[in-house]
Amino acid sequence: MPSRPESCLITGGGGFIGYHLAQRLVSMGCEVTIIDNKGLDSGGSIGCRYLKGDLQDESLVRSLVAGHDCVYHMAALLGVRRTMESPADMLENNVAGTIHVLRAALAHGKKVLFASTSEVYGKGTPPFAESADLVFGPTQKLRWSYAVGKALEEYLCLGYAKKGLPVAIVRYFNVYGPRQKQGLYGGVVAKFIASALKGDDIVVYGDGSQTRSFTYVSDAVDATIAAMQYSAGPCVVNIGCDEEIAIADLARIIRKLAKSTSAIVTVPYERIFPDGFEEVPRRLPSILKAQQLFGYHPHVALEEGLRQTIAWFRASAAALPKEED
Ligand SMILES: NC(=O)c1ccc[n+]([C@@H]2O[C@H](COP(=O)([O-])OP(=O)(O)OC[C@H]3O[C@@H](n4cnc5c(N)ncnc54)[C@H](O)[C@@H]3O)[C@@H](O)[C@H]2O)c1
Repeated sequence: MPSRPESCLITGGGGFIGYHLAQRLVSMGCEVTIIDNKGLDSGGSIGCRYLKGDLQDESLVRSLVAGHDCVYHMAALLGVRRTMESPADMLENNVAGTIHVLRAALAHGKKVLFASTSEVYGKGTPPFAESADLVFGPTQKLRWSYAVGKALEEYLCLGYAKKGLPVAIVRYFNVYGPRQKQGLYGGVVAKFIASALKGDDIVVYGDGSQTRSFTYVSDAVDATIAAMQYSAGPCVVNIGCDEEIAIADLARIIRKLAKSTSAIVTVPYERIFPDGFEEVPRRLPSILKAQQLFGYHPHVALEEGLRQTIAWFRASAAALPKEED
């Protein structure tokens, strides 16, 4: 395995996964710079340089990339609601940001790790291996725009790999843990925990029979760093966990672990997204490739990860009232 890079640029490092990644890289002795267009709640306390800036500023991106050994490109606009409400802003932001990162990295010969998503598998048949076909619905169903955008960004990465750029693409499957966003655009685990702790209804979209698999953030960070260190050509690899759970069951487990009296209510998709939504009934990765390439095994079982996440949310009351994120 090659020696680890000395200096890392993390785009979107003020967000959930990027923040944990920054913490870990700093603890490994790396010099880390974060660029994010939002401020970081906890200031510079994780021991890295934090720059408030936007990836739309190509000259800024170019100078930052030039000054680092590698780039973890985590910055993106995401979330089902955002995808449904403002797909053009989301696509422009994500695709342009990725183009700027790739151009700069090629110009300066720096490796890029791109944060892709399980969403790219669309409505295919799980368990999803990286070689599986990507199956999307019609363009009129805007829910596919985020997935198609990420697939396009993967093509851009692989296209730049053809020009000689070292790249790694990781497809995350529902990462959760402390600091995950819980507001309007947040992830399901964080939203359920926030509702459970406040005693509000836990709102399940659809009938709750749809399944997902959840990856604790420390496992996602392990695999992300391993993918960056993997040097035998461009890789596209799932980062997930092969435990599958129905969303209604997730709500019940969270309610139990949080010792909450919240009601669990189901709301039809048509009520939340009147323009039409298409749910993916099952989403489960094959994690064989990550196991074979760099010995990845998720270590944190769902209940244990949920316990740790609930404890963090309970301890940081400040994380609960925010709804706008
Ligand atoms: N969390 C998950 O379960 C999950 C699953 C699949 C894929 N991903 C991908 O992983 C990455 C990180 O996800 P996350 O959950 O940490 O998201 P997050 O929203 O917490 O973090 C993303 C960060 O990117 C920043 N950002 C967005 N556009 C920017 C721009 N133009 N310039 C500078 N900063 C910008 C945001 O301010 C935010 O802090 C994203 O690319 C996401 O698509 C996440």
